[in-house]
Amino acid sequence: MATKKKILITGANGLLGQKLVNQLVEEQQFQVIATGRGSCRLPGDGFEYVQLDLEIQEEVERVLSETQPDVIIHGAAMTHVDQCELNQEACYKANVLATQYLIKEAEKLEAHFIFVSTDFIFSGEEGPLSEEADPAPINYYGETKLEGERLVQAMKSKWAIARTVLVFGLAHDMSRSNIILWVKESLEAGKEIQVVDDQFRTPTLAEDLAAGCILIANQGADGIFNISGPDFLTPYQMAVETAEYFKLDQSLIKRTDSTQFTQPAKRPLKTGFKIEKAQKELGFEPKSFRTAIGILAKQIILARS
Ligand SMILES: NC(=O)c1ccc[n+]([C@@H]2O[C@H](COP(=O)([O-])OP(=O)(O)OC[C@H]3O[C@@H](n4cnc5c(N)ncnc54)[C@H](OP(=O)(O)O)[C@@H]3O)[C@@H](O)[C@H]2O)c1
Repeated sequence: MATKKKILITGANGLLGQKLVNQLVEEQQFQVIATGRGSCRLPGDGFEYVQLDLEIQEEVERVLSETQPDVIIHGAAMTHVDQCELNQEACYKANVLATQYLIKEAEKLEAHFIFVSTDFIFSGEEGPLSEEADPAPINYYGETKLEGERLVQAMKSKWAIARTVLVFGLAHDMSRSNIILWVKESLEAGKEIQVVDDQFRTPTLAEDLAAGCILIANQGADGIFNISGPDFLTPYQMAVETAEYFKLDQSLIKRTDSTQFTQPAKRPLKTGFKIEKAQKELGFEPKSFRTAIGILAKQIILARS
């Protein structure tokens, strides 16, 4: 029997990382090497876990030369946008230097390098955006992710960029909330919430993002792909859909706008992605926001049982 190709995942303990490892193990197309900072926080088996702090170049060199992956999905990043603004040195290390170290090893191995990027590389003046839109980040997180993209696009070996938007999902051993959980829990507690109606996104179920990255890996696809949900919505509209799904009191949802909030990092107003390229070329089929709420609802019940 032919040996399977190897795929290495960075940031495997994170939201996307967990979904990637689950789906890859299930699909059985690749031998899966999950890497993460510190010990393994992933449930299940069927993969090898290797500790890897991407900011230590010698570690990146050693792990990559020992494991020799054919494909690398680089999902690890410093993702908290306000922390990135406040601690720019740490953000640069995690999002730019780590990417640079990985690229160097990927080129040596001639591995297919898949970089996960963000709608925050755009200014937010128009959306939904195609793969050809001109980037112009308005916060430091966006700047570093764009710098990562530019390093990737200059690679000598095969590369792809999977850009995504507002990723939500439930993951093992993670306390992170998301808009659906926040709305559900607030309304169940009878709490009024202020939700902005002047930002536009195409929210993405974490499982769909993982599936999009795996389609790129399986097909050996190169270039830039928008990998997001199909629905162009404001957070207010997302909140209303969530309340409708769980049959909660919508009158507790108060419409507001971004001028009412001050956060360390600016947020682009209108992003969201056009996903026709990924649908046509990769066969990417993300769930509607309504279907995604239903999937999350089932996961919430399972997590409690
Ligand atoms: N979440 C979104 O809404 C969103 C939107 C657009 C794009 N993206 C992109 O999608 C990708 C995945 O995001 P996510 O939501 O899954 O993020 P996440 O849950 O924050 O996971 C990121 C992972 O990266 C790891 N990491 C950070 N620095 C590292 C380092 N030096 N060495 C090794 N691992 C390191 C973190 O490790 P620890 O667990 O140890 O901290 C974490 O497990 C990121 O590239 C992000 O930029 C996300």
